[in-house]
Amino acid sequence: MQVTKPTTKPVAMTVNGDEVTADVEPRLLLVHFLRDHLRLTGTHWGCDTSNCGACVVWIDGVPVKSCTVLTVMAGGHEIRTVEGLEVDGRLDPVQEGFMQEHGLQCGFCTPGMMLTARWLLDREPDPGEATIRDAISGNICRCTGYENIVRAVRWAAEHPRGAGTADDEVAAGDQVEEVQA
Ligand code: FES
Ligand code: FES
Repeated sequence: MQVTKPTTKPVAMTVNGDEVTADVEPRLLLVHFLRDHLRLTGTHWGCDTSNCGACVVWIDGVPVKSCTVLTVMAGGHEIRTVEGLEVDGRLDPVQEGFMQEHGLQCGFCTPGMMLTARWLLDREPDPGEATIRDAISGNICRCTGYENIVRAVRWAAEHPRGAGTADDEVAAGDQVEEVQA
């Protein structure tokens, strides 16, 4: 019996500011490329049916469920994952807000929540509760009841980047490790 090797296609994209090139099977989903090929495991794989939002990343600045995107479709685009939220080793206020307001329990939904929240705050810096709940409506959390997630986003709105916070001196890597695993 002759075994046929799967065909691959070259793909090039930017991930968190870095140029990435690879040869991938055309059927490979972006969520698997990020997790299994680039080891960016902060992007979580949950339902695989575009319902949970755990796999949300940005494509050209827009939150997208990466289980709905073939890797080859991401070619030529800019991808940002939760690992790319911190800047120069400092947490994004959204990340700090989740820590300050206990916006996570198991943490499975958290990367997608944070990317969606940052996208919202970049467009609407002072959103009310209804707006926050509407923005995260595509992200399912089965632990928190959403109350503390809304508080975390409000915390970030009230502590924009550059405003200074009590925990600004804390190294980012120590804080985000648990929500990216
Ligand atoms: Fe993509 Fe659930 S894994 S929406
Ligand atoms: Fe567990 Fe949201 S913190 S699913």
